[in-house]
Amino acid sequence: MYTHSSLLVTLASLATLGASQKCTLQFDGRVPKNFSAAKFDTANGIFNPSNVMGKGLKFSEILKTPAVQGSLFDKNTQPIEVTINDKSIFAPSATNVQTGFRRAELLIASNDGKDASTTGVKTLHFSVMKDAARPLNLTHEYQLVFLEDSSFSTNQFVLKTGTILGGDAAADPDTLQLFGNVNSKPLQTLFSTKFTEGVFHNFAVTNDFNKKTTQVFYSQGKEALKEQTKALANDNSGQGQFHFGVLKKGLGGGSDITKEGIQEADIDEGIIYGGIFNEDSSTGCVSLTAC
Ligand SMILES: *[C@@H]1O[C@H](CO)[C@@H](O)[C@H](O)[C@H]1NC(C)=O
Ligand SMILES: *[C@@H]1O[C@H](CO)[C@@H](O)[C@H](O)[C@H]1NC(C)=O
Repeated sequence: MYTHSSLLVTLASLATLGASQKCTLQFDGRVPKNFSAAKFDTANGIFNPSNVMGKGLKFSEILKTPAVQGSLFDKNTQPIEVTINDKSIFAPSATNVQTGFRRAELLIASNDGKDASTTGVKTLHFSVMKDAARPLNLTHEYQLVFLEDSSFSTNQFVLKTGTILGGDAAADPDTLQLFGNVNSKPLQTLFSTKFTEGVFHNFAVTNDFNKKTTQVFYSQGKEALKEQTKALANDNSGQGQFHFGVLKKGLGGGSDITKEGIQEADIDEGIIYGGIFNEDSSTGCVSLTAC
């Protein structure tokens, strides 16, 4: 019996070794365990301290460190929760006050929109989990992770949940849906899965920015990623910035949903993120666990 289980352990270790290739990191958005909240408000080498959040807010006020274990992709690093409240009204300029949204998103410090994170072949890793104490309102549409091109005219891919504006009214809103370029017609659903609570949903999204393809890997909890799609044609040109957070859209907005739409008051909503990193996949390397 002892010999038998040792053999199993050995085989399991070999399988893990096979799965954990060492790919080259392009950026690392994983938060060290000793990182204090105040660090997010000043240049910290991980996230942009200034954007994206409601005018007058600070990241130290809207980021939480939830008592959950690290994700599959964390390595002595901690999950971080992004929250929104009634003050989460982003105002990039005096004339652009986005009253139609409630939003807060982390941007990677080195990802300025023209950097190497959106050239060649790169695989973005991230994990998302619900916070039972800060549930989203699934009557609304939410964007959780997206690449916004450098001219701010499209999202080349976007992970959404809730009731998708203009989407199938009969669809289950409690779903994670990864869409391709939102300006492409028809809109391409790359992958979707039930947004089960109490567990991390792990994603890796490989973008070949030369061939304009996107490939999706996914798993739950501590399971290694599994390939979910082949490399699918998707217009991921235009570089840009990766966003990680909560962008809640209003209901019944008109032609400018950034400024119009119903947003109910007294909200306290959040999503937990773990294991954000981007790796170079130009040699075909894709980490199925932590890198
Ligand atoms: C946090 O831990 C890392 C190693 O894990 C160390 O390099 C760094 O100096 C520590 N920072 C602080 C502020 O303690
Ligand atoms: C969810 O949003 C809708 C539309 O804004 C609102 O009518 C409803 O009260 C909200 N539900 C909760 C639980 O806040």
